[in-house]
Amino acid sequence: MHRLQVLSKQLTSGAFTERPSTISSSADYERLYKRSIEDPNGFWAEMAKDFVWSKTWDKDHFKSNFDVNNGPIFTHWFKGGKTNIAFNCLDRWVAAGRGSQPCFLWEGNEPHQQRTMTYSDVLAEVCRLSNWLLSQGVKMGDTVSLYLPMVCELPIAMLACARIGAVHSVIFAGFSADSLAQRIMDCKSRVVITSTGTMRGTKPVDLKGIVDKALDLCNKGGHKVDRALVVEDSSCPLQPGVGFQASRDVWWHQHIPQQAAQCEPTWVDSEQPLFLLYTSGSTGNPKGVVHTTGGYMVGAGVSTKYVFDMQPGDVYWSTADCGWITGHTYLTYGPLLNGAVCVLFGSTPTYPDQTRCWQVIEKYKVRQFYTAPTLLRSLLQHGDDWVTKYDRSSLRVLGSVGEPINEHAWHWFHEVVGEKRCPIVDTWWQTETGTHMITPLPGSWCKLKPGSASLPFFGVQPVLLSPEGKEVTGHGEGILAIKGAWPGMARTLHNDHGRYESTYFAPFSGYYFTGDGARRDEDGYIWITGRVDDVINVSGHRIGTAEVEGALAEHPLCAEAAVVGVDHPIKGQSIYAYVTLTDAQRQGKEMRQILVDHVRKTIGPFAVPDVIHWAPSLPKTRSGKIMRRVLRKVAMGQEKELGDVSTLADPSVVDLLISLRGE
Ligand code: WT7
Repeated sequence: MHRLQVLSKQLTSGAFTERPSTISSSADYERLYKRSIEDPNGFWAEMAKDFVWSKTWDKDHFKSNFDVNNGPIFTHWFKGGKTNIAFNCLDRWVAAGRGSQPCFLWEGNEPHQQRTMTYSDVLAEVCRLSNWLLSQGVKMGDTVSLYLPMVCELPIAMLACARIGAVHSVIFAGFSADSLAQRIMDCKSRVVITSTGTMRGTKPVDLKGIVDKALDLCNKGGHKVDRALVVEDSSCPLQPGVGFQASRDVWWHQHIPQQAAQCEPTWVDSEQPLFLLYTSGSTGNPKGVVHTTGGYMVGAGVSTKYVFDMQPGDVYWSTADCGWITGHTYLTYGPLLNGAVCVLFGSTPTYPDQTRCWQVIEKYKVRQFYTAPTLLRSLLQHGDDWVTKYDRSSLRVLGSVGEPINEHAWHWFHEVVGEKRCPIVDTWWQTETGTHMITPLPGSWCKLKPGSASLPFFGVQPVLLSPEGKEVTGHGEGILAIKGAWPGMARTLHNDHGRYESTYFAPFSGYYFTGDGARRDEDGYIWITGRVDDVINVSGHRIGTAEVEGALAEHPLCAEAAVVGVDHPIKGQSIYAYVTLTDAQRQGKEMRQILVDHVRKTIGPFAVPDVIHWAPSLPKTRSGKIMRRVLRKVAMGQEKELGDVSTLADPSVVDLLISLRGE
């Protein structure tokens, strides 16, 4: 810390230049915020005028019900309006004379692998793919599954679906064949788009092989995928033994270039689904979160503009993958809706070494840089010289997302990376919220507090609730909930509106329940304290304990499993699993590897437990509920703080578990 303070004194703090896209005073923020809450219908209608609609929305376009006792939960924005988000992302900028401006600056796994696509290039390729999708019989409302690494074809495929009113479902390319199959079957995609593979650092990832396995599983499950469109990645060709199924698989480079480069956009109703994105909950299967078009477009475009102070031509880089919500809202839609130049990063931030991020920033003259605290923590341990030897003078706004940012990482980001010149926008939001909810704004008027997500964005009313559902006013702590609807919010869960209602609205009627805890300080700033449910956040990836438990329990030698999240210095949290074997004799290194491999195969590498703790039995209440609180304390070596264990059916289990730690 001391070095940082000395360094920060030596640096001249170049003033943050206010631009028309920034809010320039506290009074302006308060005025706009107040208006957005008092008159959401009018406020958002005004914001929506910056976008192209083929038909204007009705005068009273916004309606919503958040109270489960008051009929079904629903929200609609811009009712009566028709638009097309791909048109707003691309055609609009080409028509405005920005066709030759770069849209994507792609950098591959190796620093020398580069590709620039202009707005005109991207528009033409999107149209070609849209035409191909139409030729395959994909219609408005059909779902197309995308299983691609970070190549230009991924956002292009998202936009091509949007152009014809089809719904995209991007599955992160780190998911296993089982998870992929489950997601394809759930939304019944008949078309899947993938690539031969990708290099992740020095490791080839056999994507086509995984797709083949997944589509076999789909067949067994009674769902047939008619077409797999495959992008050829020359750095990772088809792996040995992986072939082409003549009746199903086709190459992108053989079928897309011959399509017409024009395709009329399909103007869709504001509430037409735009995409599905599967995310983990505290229980059950992953949920297919449904986002719709009009409100999401306005929410994504407006938040990107104000939170990142973004203007057309700005070079923007988010290290997120399109497989997660950040890659949808703040890598694809938000930046393109603002005419930005997006760096698409197809590598790992620490490959070939820990200087990669700063090289990329120097090379492309990145203005806004958006990343996750876990990456900052892994980079700052290498010292500052690796950062300061690269030119970061282009940077203006730094963003953080995915988990609470600790003070040390915040200061390093602010002082070393941003030379004290760039505000840090610590953005709190979720897959379900679609767009930023609580965040500082990058104006010199906005006081920054390291570790605080700060203030609500326009249209967002955060409240803190007591466990009984009473609003905590002023300075205090509680469960974070949101009162009233905002344009970017998810409208339902795919095929399961009941689960949508029971997960997000039943816990506290009248509010959207976030699953996070938070504190409000004397200045009204919000500090997120972390999840209050059984969701673990590993390196900004959301993983449900129930999913990992389910994967472990599926193994025939596993009798029972309980999974908890424990603090981890780099990853934020790591996965810690307690496992009871059907045969205790098998406990040991070999069995651990078997279980780890099994989780990797069932979910994906990022869900693998760091620790497997053998448990002859698990601490349960008399009614059979596993006491995770106790397991978490034992895992972290805090058995002195176990709290009340009197409700355990057999309290001696705890001592037994403590004695087996590290075995
Ligand atoms: C959960 C949502 C939103 C895109 C990435 C994750 C945690 C997210 C912050 C932040 C503290 C944060 C919350 C939230 N989270 N951003 N700035 N400060 N916590 O999306 O996978 O839907 O996860 O991530 O716990 O509920 P997600």
